[in-house]
Amino acid sequence: MTAMPFRSLPIPNDWDRSGLPAWTYSSPELFDLERDQVFLNHWQVVGHECDIPAPGDWLAFDILGERAVVMRGADGQVRAFHNLCRHRGARVVDGAQGQCRGAVVCPFHGWVYNLDGTLRGAAQPDSFGAMDKADFGLKPIEMETYHGFIFLRFLPGPQPPVADLLAPFDADFAAYRAKDVLPASTITWETELPVNWKSVRDVDNEGYHVPLAHPSLQELYGRDYRDYHLPGELNVAVGFFGDKPGRRWSVKEYIKHSPDQPHLPPHLRRSWTYYGMFPSAVFSFTPESANFYYEVPIAAGKTLLTGRSYRHPNESRQERLARYLAMRIDRDTSAEDQQLTIWSNESMKSQAFDGFHLSDHEYGLRRHHDILRGLLPVMRLDQAPDAGEIAARNKEMLGLGQE
Ligand code: FES
Ligand SMILES: [Fe+2]
Repeated sequence: MTAMPFRSLPIPNDWDRSGLPAWTYSSPELFDLERDQVFLNHWQVVGHECDIPAPGDWLAFDILGERAVVMRGADGQVRAFHNLCRHRGARVVDGAQGQCRGAVVCPFHGWVYNLDGTLRGAAQPDSFGAMDKADFGLKPIEMETYHGFIFLRFLPGPQPPVADLLAPFDADFAAYRAKDVLPASTITWETELPVNWKSVRDVDNEGYHVPLAHPSLQELYGRDYRDYHLPGELNVAVGFFGDKPGRRWSVKEYIKHSPDQPHLPPHLRRSWTYYGMFPSAVFSFTPESANFYYEVPIAAGKTLLTGRSYRHPNESRQERLARYLAMRIDRDTSAEDQQLTIWSNESMKSQAFDGFHLSDHEYGLRRHHDILRGLLPVMRLDQAPDAGEIAARNKEMLGLGQE
């Protein structure tokens, strides 16, 4: 067994194994609180600097009524703005990703912005009376890059800067040369599921289900899979592969072709690793690829699963083949997880549902739930407060020191 450079927080002998109450997975009122207190005020990863290599290249990111555009300026700097024209609010760029030549031209009436977000000029400026252009630039959004990955935060929140937050991951991200990756050919994927976002997280936050639910992963690394619970709302999971050849085609071929990467430290050479941050993003690495995936909540009962994938520069044929095989394994795994997520979410609508009864191997759920209970103490209540009372009750509980 290869040692990992992480020490997991101890799991208490006795803990409440029941999970969050069912009502928290379907309440639109709670969902509104989660919008501001869990998603908009926490860091969201939206892409990598390599996605926008040239001046004018941009990436869009929409979440819960907010919309961002991340753009590289003429000076090479990456900046983030609200994708919202200061004239009447049109999207200044349309789509998921693209390129502006020299300027951003709003498609509604043609206001023109520089690539740094400042207003170059309104169409027919004389028709506006006195107007100071300096007051009408695209509104900036707080942004930080970390090993090339781009993070946004729409509202001030409790997390420290990303560099501090993710510092425990530094050595591994550097070893993977995350800063130097390039977009893979199929860089983005999206799936919409009829579930609450927490049901997706609940499935992803534990490895107890791997032996039964993920036959390929079990064959690949199930015999040596480990979860680490780190301070600061972080978690790491790792599966070491290659102790057996594998029977399934993708697994057998993957183990054969996954290239030796001498630059990686021993604990990353024959492993798939997952680095999780609150509320919903996971960075996953294999010896030949870098990826991240996360959930975008759409409504209390609707969630978008999405992510992006990256490859090494000067990728060898062997790395490319291994990446393709890993993607096939991931595709099966993801379909399996989606089914489990749907069942879990459905079960909460049944009168027979009595809450979870979690194993120590599912302690990751408990940690995630605890962070949520800290932010939104109303989630501690077994029964939903009366309609219209959830926000007020939450405020009251916050004032009471969350008891
Ligand atoms: S809304 Fe952008 S120019 Fe009018
Ligand atoms: Fe899974």
